[in-house]
Amino acid sequence: MSKSLIERTQYAGADLSLSEICELLSITSDIDLDLLWQAADHVRRQEVGEDIWLRGLLEFSNICTCNCLYCGLRRDNTGLPRYRLTEEQILEAVHRLSRLGIGTVVLQSGEDPYFTEERLIALLHAIRNTCDIAITLSIGYRPKSELAAFKRAGAHRFLIRHEIANPDLYRVFHPDSTLADRVEQLKDLRALGYEVGSGCLVGLPGQTVADLADDIALARELEVDMFGVGPFIPHPDTPLGEATPGSTLMTYKMIAVARLVLRDVHIPVTTALSTLEEDGREKGWMRGANIVMPNATPAPYRAQYELYKNKRCIDDTLEHCRGCLGRRVKSVGRVIGQGRGTSLKLLRREVLV
Ligand code: 5AD
Ligand code: SF4
Ligand code: FES
Repeated sequence: MSKSLIERTQYAGADLSLSEICELLSITSDIDLDLLWQAADHVRRQEVGEDIWLRGLLEFSNICTCNCLYCGLRRDNTGLPRYRLTEEQILEAVHRLSRLGIGTVVLQSGEDPYFTEERLIALLHAIRNTCDIAITLSIGYRPKSELAAFKRAGAHRFLIRHEIANPDLYRVFHPDSTLADRVEQLKDLRALGYEVGSGCLVGLPGQTVADLADDIALARELEVDMFGVGPFIPHPDTPLGEATPGSTLMTYKMIAVARLVLRDVHIPVTTALSTLEEDGREKGWMRGANIVMPNATPAPYRAQYELYKNKRCIDDTLEHCRGCLGRRVKSVGRVIGQGRGTSLKLLRREVLV
């Protein structure tokens, strides 16, 4: 049954129904799993080629006014030392990425009101005036007028996961926002010309396989340029501290099925996945993924961006991680992409208009 379905994904994956997506996510036998990984790897090669792109993750503030139930940065976690990098520190880290030939910086933070529209615009100008690098913002909710201003100031991409496509569960885990608002922001970003990244968590308490199928279907509907999937890792100082972690096998299945359905999208192996499994990056790349996000946050702040505990590479320098990733990429027979790694979906959209 699954074999013929998997064969169909090779040419008609984008049209899979919700129940077919569920069926693929429910595969358990080793034989069918192997077929799924092979199908995802084939479609990955055909749609996005052999490049693995590096996106330098710069976590510039761990201050957050939100209280998401699963996250170690939530405002009620008073035990966590908070930090905010200065503009000089941010610029220094961006230039370090650029010197290493890494073509993208992802500026990520909690929802930190200190970084007003004005301050972020000044920062974007400072980066654009001093180096040639693609800029992704990952700063949570912002009104549409600010998103437009950031785009004008030189931001290229925006990352905001929809986290969980089930609106009732979304409400349980996110006291400060609604799924409808998230989806609207994702649509606004797209309309403003950003390359848009969304994604979801795997294994939140109560989440079903049908919910995960909805996550992929929502990403298809939104035509996202990037889709990131990571396992939920319980943080002891949150209300979900005692919960069971998300399954790495289900995370790989989400990566593979997302590749079959979303085709030429960028799919990262997430830090959360590589935290739970030492060879998570290699497996992810062989099962549909084509991106990795080395950590560009300077010591000692890296450890304090504590979404969950025991994050990978906490004590390694960016230069060390760059070398390590080069070897890992080579070990799976692939190459590190040179340049910015602009979304193929975006390039195709622009050809069409
Ligand atoms: N486990 C895994 N991922 C997490 N995130 C936040 N907290 C956790 C956790 N405990 C993810 C969210 C967010 C991204 C920056 O980190 O999905 O979008
Ligand atoms: Fe803040 Fe993001 Fe963590 Fe939610 S997931 S508490 S918005 S940093
Ligand atoms: Fe950081 Fe391997 S990627 S040490």
